[in-house]
Amino acid sequence: MGTFGSGCFHGIGSPEVERLKKEIITFPEREALSRKAADILLAEAKKSVENSGKFTLALSGGSTPKRLYEILGSSPYRKAIPWGSVHFFWGDERCVPPDHPESNYRMAWETFLSKIVVPRENIHRMTGEKTPAQAALEYEKELRGFFGNVSFPVFDFMLLGLGSDGHIASLFPGSSLLQETRQWVASAQVEKPGISRLTLTLPVFNSAKMLPVLVSGKEKAQIIREIFGGSAEKIAFPAQMIHPENGKLLWLLDDPAASLLDARVNRDNPKK
Ligand code: 6PG
Repeated sequence: MGTFGSGCFHGIGSPEVERLKKEIITFPEREALSRKAADILLAEAKKSVENSGKFTLALSGGSTPKRLYEILGSSPYRKAIPWGSVHFFWGDERCVPPDHPESNYRMAWETFLSKIVVPRENIHRMTGEKTPAQAALEYEKELRGFFGNVSFPVFDFMLLGLGSDGHIASLFPGSSLLQETRQWVASAQVEKPGISRLTLTLPVFNSAKMLPVLVSGKEKAQIIREIFGGSAEKIAFPAQMIHPENGKLLWLLDDPAASLLDARVNRDNPKK
């Protein structure tokens, strides 16, 4: 299985990079990527529910995970996973009502959550309809109530996507939130005029047990090359700041997204 380091990039194959391992798996197209992600989630959910009686899952927004959600909401997954023991959270949300076309909650509900049997109290929605500051405060309170008196919550599974500018969740390049070291939830600078965002912060993502980043499409090829390229002498993108201290970071790329990846970058191609 291919591996790659996190933190400051010193070029391909350098001791620093080899020392800290990541995993890159590539797939011919989004369908295979989504099915692999569903299988990984299934295995992790079963293991977590057996060990602790629950599975804490943070969903990503955007369009990439949509196919994964459709798969999870259909046979066999919709009955294979103990959804009653799964608690659903969001890594970020747009500050819009839950029925708004831009709502990450709405996308997950329509493609997935409405198709499975899960107690309503297990769905921990970010209240995008409230003011950003109020919604961030309330979500932080909800997380602290669920995870208890800890420095940062340890999620079992946190799905992420990647923006073409290297953002993850709603942590954008140049944002002051990238330096946040205490808050769990923050309201973010708008990416689109008029739509503010809510986002979990880097220390929360870096506390997770399993962090799959799903990246699909040729429009992501350039940012993937920059993130994994040998040329990056320093951390230039929020996505490069994701390195779970005690967890696993898994890059799931389809071939179009991986098409500019340096051939020397180790990866696994299960379908080839
Ligand atoms: C969001 C996501 C965001 C997304 C990337 C990629 O709320 O939009 O959290 O971080 O993952 O922007 O979006 P696509 O999957 O649509 O390319």
